[in-house]
Amino acid sequence: MNNSQETPNASSGLDRGENHDVTELHAAVLREKPDPVEGFEPVNLWMVAGIAGLLFWGGAYLTQYSGRFEAMEFSELPHGKPAPVATVAADPLAAVKRDGMIAYNAVCALCHGEDGAGKAGVAPVLAGSDWVNAEGPNRLLRIVRHGLKGTVKVNKDVTWNPANDAGIVMGSQWEAIGGTNEKLAAVLTYIRSSWGNTGTAVTPQMVADGLAPVKDRSAEANWTQEELLQVPAGGAAAPAVAAAAATPDQLKAQLQALPAEQRQAILKELSK
Ligand code: HEC
Repeated sequence: MNNSQETPNASSGLDRGENHDVTELHAAVLREKPDPVEGFEPVNLWMVAGIAGLLFWGGAYLTQYSGRFEAMEFSELPHGKPAPVATVAADPLAAVKRDGMIAYNAVCALCHGEDGAGKAGVAPVLAGSDWVNAEGPNRLLRIVRHGLKGTVKVNKDVTWNPANDAGIVMGSQWEAIGGTNEKLAAVLTYIRSSWGNTGTAVTPQMVADGLAPVKDRSAEANWTQEELLQVPAGGAAAPAVAAAAATPDQLKAQLQALPAEQRQAILKELSK
C-alpha cells in the first residue's frame, strides 16, 4: 500500500492525530485470514506432498509394467501376433487336390454330389466308401477309366441299388476329366482325402502302372464288382508308408545300434 498521499499533511503540520501509520493500523485486519469458502479451504501441505509422491510412484510403476499399453502384450502368442504360418506345414498336395476338386465338381459331382454323399437313385456315396478308401488305387482308377455297372457293395452298410438291373451305370469318366494320368491322379487324390476319407495320395505314376495291364480295354467295357475284386486292392504303397510300418521299438533299436556320433546327429536333426 502506498501512503505517499497522507504524508503531505504531516509535513504541513496539520496533524490532527490522524497521521498514524496506516500499515500498522491495518496490520491486525491483514492478519485476519478471509473466511474459508467451501471448496477452497487451505490444503494440508503434507497431503499435497503425499499425493505428489504417489503420482511419481504411479508413473514409475507404469513405465516399468505398462506393457507399452498394448492390449495384446500379455497374450500367450508372441506380442499377440498369430502364429507364423510357416510353423504349420504347408500341404504339399494342395495344388493337386485343388486340381482334382475342380475336375470332380465339374464332372463327378453331378451324380455323386459336391459333398460326396451320393444321390438317391443316381449314384452311391463316396464319403467313407470302401472303394475310395482302399489301400491302393488299382480298383478305383479302373472304375473311373472304364466305368462301373451292376450291383455294388459300397461298404458294410450300403449295397448300391439292389434294383440296379434298371441299368443305372457309371460310364467311363476318362475323357470328361481330361483324359490324362495327371488328371485322374488328381481326382482320386482329391476324393481319397475329402469328406473324412483317409486314402493315401495317388500319383500319375501309380495311375500309369495301374492302367498298363488294361490299356487295350474299351471304354464301353464297364467293370463289374466281381471283376474288380479279382484286382489286387493293394496297389503300389508309397515307400514312406512302408517305412512307417516299423514299430517304435524297432526304430529305437536301429537308432541305438548306430555309432553315438551319428545317433546324436540324427536326434539333433529330428529335434529341429
Ligand atoms: C452319370 C453319373 C455319374 C458320374 C458323372 C460319375 N459317377 Fe461314379 N458312380 C455312378 C453310379 C451310378 C455308380 C454305381 C455303379 C453301379 O451301380 O455299378 C458309381 C460308382 C462309383 C464308385 C464306386 C462306388 C462307390 O460309391 O464308392 C466310385 C468310386 C465312383 N463312382 C467315382 C466317381 C468319380 C471319381 C467320378 C468322376 C470322375 C464319377 N464317379 C462320376 C454314377 C456316376
